[in-house]
Amino acid sequence: MLENNLIVVTGNQFQLNTKNTSYVMHNENGMLTHTYYGKRLPNVNHEYMAKRCRYNGDFQSNISANLPTLDNALLEYPVFGDGGITAPALEVLNSDGTNFAEIKVTGYNIIEGKPKIEGLPASYAEEGDNVKTLEVVTKDEVSGLEVRLYYAVFYDFDVITRFVKITNGGKNAVTLLRALSANLAFDNKGYDVISNYGTWAKERQIERTPLAHGATSVYSNCGSSSHGANPFLILAENTATEDFGEAVGMALAYSGNHRMTADLGRYGVVNMSAGIAADNFRWNLNSGESFSTPEVVMSFSANGLNALSQNFHKIVKNRVCRGAYRDARRPVLLNLWEACSFTFTEETVKSAADICAELGVELLVIDDGWFGQRNTDHCSLGDWYVNEEKIRGGLKPLCDYVNSKGLKLGIWFEPEMICPDSDLFRTKPEWAMKINGRKPTETRWQLMLDLTNPEVCDYIYSSIANILNGANIEYVKWDYNRTMAHIGSAFLKADQMGEYYHRYMLGLYGVLERLVTDFPNVLFEGCASGGGRFDIGMLYYTPQIWTSDDTDAVERAAIQYGTSFVYPMSSQSAHVSVCPNQQTGRSVSMQARHILALTGSFGYELAPEELTDKDKEYIKDFIKFYIENYDVFANGKYFRLSNPHTDEYAAFQYELNGNVIVGAMRLKTHAINLQTTIKLKGLEPDRVYTDVKTGDTYYGAQLMEYGLRINAASYTGDYQTVMWQLK
Ligand code: DGJ
Repeated sequence: MLENNLIVVTGNQFQLNTKNTSYVMHNENGMLTHTYYGKRLPNVNHEYMAKRCRYNGDFQSNISANLPTLDNALLEYPVFGDGGITAPALEVLNSDGTNFAEIKVTGYNIIEGKPKIEGLPASYAEEGDNVKTLEVVTKDEVSGLEVRLYYAVFYDFDVITRFVKITNGGKNAVTLLRALSANLAFDNKGYDVISNYGTWAKERQIERTPLAHGATSVYSNCGSSSHGANPFLILAENTATEDFGEAVGMALAYSGNHRMTADLGRYGVVNMSAGIAADNFRWNLNSGESFSTPEVVMSFSANGLNALSQNFHKIVKNRVCRGAYRDARRPVLLNLWEACSFTFTEETVKSAADICAELGVELLVIDDGWFGQRNTDHCSLGDWYVNEEKIRGGLKPLCDYVNSKGLKLGIWFEPEMICPDSDLFRTKPEWAMKINGRKPTETRWQLMLDLTNPEVCDYIYSSIANILNGANIEYVKWDYNRTMAHIGSAFLKADQMGEYYHRYMLGLYGVLERLVTDFPNVLFEGCASGGGRFDIGMLYYTPQIWTSDDTDAVERAAIQYGTSFVYPMSSQSAHVSVCPNQQTGRSVSMQARHILALTGSFGYELAPEELTDKDKEYIKDFIKFYIENYDVFANGKYFRLSNPHTDEYAAFQYELNGNVIVGAMRLKTHAINLQTTIKLKGLEPDRVYTDVKTGDTYYGAQLMEYGLRINAASYTGDYQTVMWQLK
């Protein structure tokens, strides 16, 4: 019987336990070495495992019979300059120009629950949670640099989260050149790296490659977590599938530049690491000052990738997302962007509200174009006052009208931006991010605001607060539509410029924190030209994020599949739009579009007045079905039943307390359809499940081992989509 001991320290051994996993480290004469991360172990002495990487404790003479070089050691937090060739987690620049540091364990503390990370988003523990934190204190006795490594153990979640706090306890200033959140060293068992790549409208495409020697990195240097390199990385045994085999994942709670790396060294040691990208990162630490890294969320699964994703889903949904809408049902929304772009008036909104009320839509969202002179995307970002030529009388009467129809009203902002053609730029040109004497690059006719400047952050806060206080706005879409370039600041000093990217993130998180605190009942949705900033950092403030600007159901199958590796379905906004689709020109059935949008934040992106009576009837019924089964979509276990990149079908399943909903879209049509069944997962083998529509009954074992039969006769042609509901 394994005891429920979250943190067990015996002699020189630290053992962390979650329900199904253990994480073991040893203090080898001051050097913290990694011993094990995997399936749950008994709380016994594991030192024989540590022997293969035993470090003789003498930094100056690390050549011994057991240890050819430090590359063979499994170091918990490698520091540059120690003689190893692998990428370090920490690199400092001392005031004497050297880069060396030598951190040795000096003590540890066990903290009930989990400490906050000042100014940064992070997972949290609630009262009654089985969560404890181990703080390992290490110190460089010569320079006085203190490095504290934190491990929060979420017992019931099978998750360990980590961050590092570095304090300059010496007299002289130190500059941090690299300060990663975590490093995880282990022996290569033959791993595959599972990562993602993407672009605008094609986010989080999953890629699986064998781990090769050298560093494999997913990284972003564009200022945001990006469309192209979401901050997560998974290492899986190369035989692992969705349902079998070992896999370990790391996801970074950060929305800025990052680097997620798997580095296979010459002695077969893998160093997996996560943190702020070291490129163009410098942080000055004067005597007495501290720096905290972002948090990394880590999980291990012995039962394949789907179980690993479910661990991430559970922690992100329940202990990262916050606010009223963490648990409350999210309203079915209709966003007018694809329907109207910049051309609408209050009449458009009112007539949309009339129809939405009839359909059962619960929240109407006015997207870009309601403010300043914003009739195109060439101007006005920063001028957050209502354009009364479009919305006569302002937002209040319009909001009252929408509310009188039983709907909530939501509104779009792009708060971090400034257009050169704006009143804000004309009065405060120094608030723009730009380099003196150089022409800044505009993207979509806009520059970014300098969020390192607290005055700018105050302006953003009060602009949004004014609008929210002036009318009953219950939803905010927080957009972000360009990458950072020409980093310059009228506010920071020259020697702080290496701190720019991270200071920007601290500014952004600070504004978001004030807003979610002061407007606790507003639903904030993140967006960055679609899903360009879809990360655990943003989900701390915005429990849902616009997954992609690509609303084509077929494209969404792959995008939502990739996003589901870490992020819960409730965090993925998915909307039904019109056909031919605006991004791809493809047409698929109303049914296909609805089924593929079935996540915990379902909605529409179309002009309600263009709907036919038949469409309206379909929508009414579907919204009713969605709301009735909301709990299954938002809180059920999500199973990937196929890989849409390679399989004939894009298929998924939700399961909650015996309620099962399965969706499948046929992606490839052949004269002979080779796949005739879809196997379900996670059911009770002896339980009888009834198809709600047909009344047919099946044993769980039948559904999991043989599967649901796809009716080949009526199920022909590309993109035919079916849904089953079983109870
Ligand atoms: C990009 C977003 O992803 C879209 O949904 C829309 O809000 C536009 N910006 C508006 O400019």
